[in-house]
Amino acid sequence: MNLKNEITQLKKEKNAVLLVHNYQKPEIQDIADELGDSLGLSRRAAKTNAEVIVFCGVKFMAETAKILSPQKTVLLPRPELEVGCPMADMVTAPQLKKLKDEHPEAKVVSYVNTNADVKAETDVCCTSSNAVEVVKNIDAEKIIFVPDKNLASYVKRFVTKEIIPWNGFCYVHERITKKEVLRAKEEYPEALLIVHPECRPEVIDLADEVLSTGGMVRRAKESSRNKFLIGTEEGILYRLKKENPQKEFYTAGTPKMCAGMKRPTLQDVYLALKDELNPVEIPEAIMKRARRSLEAMLNYTG
Ligand code: 13P
Ligand code: SF4
Repeated sequence: MNLKNEITQLKKEKNAVLLVHNYQKPEIQDIADELGDSLGLSRRAAKTNAEVIVFCGVKFMAETAKILSPQKTVLLPRPELEVGCPMADMVTAPQLKKLKDEHPEAKVVSYVNTNADVKAETDVCCTSSNAVEVVKNIDAEKIIFVPDKNLASYVKRFVTKEIIPWNGFCYVHERITKKEVLRAKEEYPEALLIVHPECRPEVIDLADEVLSTGGMVRRAKESSRNKFLIGTEEGILYRLKKENPQKEFYTAGTPKMCAGMKRPTLQDVYLALKDELNPVEIPEAIMKRARRSLEAMLNYTG
């Protein structure tokens, strides 16, 4: 059986679309209808005409698609194994409610890397590509920012507003150390260093550019530079190399992998689509409130 052909056939029969994050395995990236970062994939989920969305990413991404397109069936391949984002689980809705009670004048900006019930307690969501813009534009001088402390501290570089950060982090980006990035820069002194804003502040200090994964893809294409050091999950290097065969890309330090992102296989996508496995379900009341914060983000930043 040729899995790629079977998936293409099933997509047609079921009027399905395959949304794939930039960190996914190469063979999954190759069959994407849309390959992108959290913001790009959320936008596509919000406006697709397809009846079924197969989401190859982690759970919070599939949930975001469901919240923005509640009448669609959203499937998350590989249901039997954990495909979560550990950072998303670092803040819970009761913890956020408590923080809101302590700071009644603050507004809440939540990274999309959160669970649906946390989004329901949020004023405006953000992604790595629009966090600064959202915080600048939100109508408050005091902002509770959850869950990523590194993204919060990156945003703080651009605003005078008070930011109350949560103490969460991404274990993948946290493992990128200043020491190894300095070593990589020594090895490739002519390379442009692009890192994700989930990196530690001391790594961000070394970077030429700080971008979302979608921003990295655009920057690499437009740049006249030929060598790039990339500070994020290693999966994106496949796309960067494929789309820019004449340029060179290296991880800034040893390659770092996100276990949840690497779960889905072609077989999983095929089975999910064929049997409509693991549809994302979120209680209506949470979905309604979470949608407000996601739509506020899309309205703020287009
Ligand atoms: P992007 O939105 O930049 O793709 O980031 C998603 C993510 O989970 C990064 O770790
Ligand atoms: Fe979550 Fe980090 Fe994996 Fe992104 S790379 S999904 S933030 S654990």
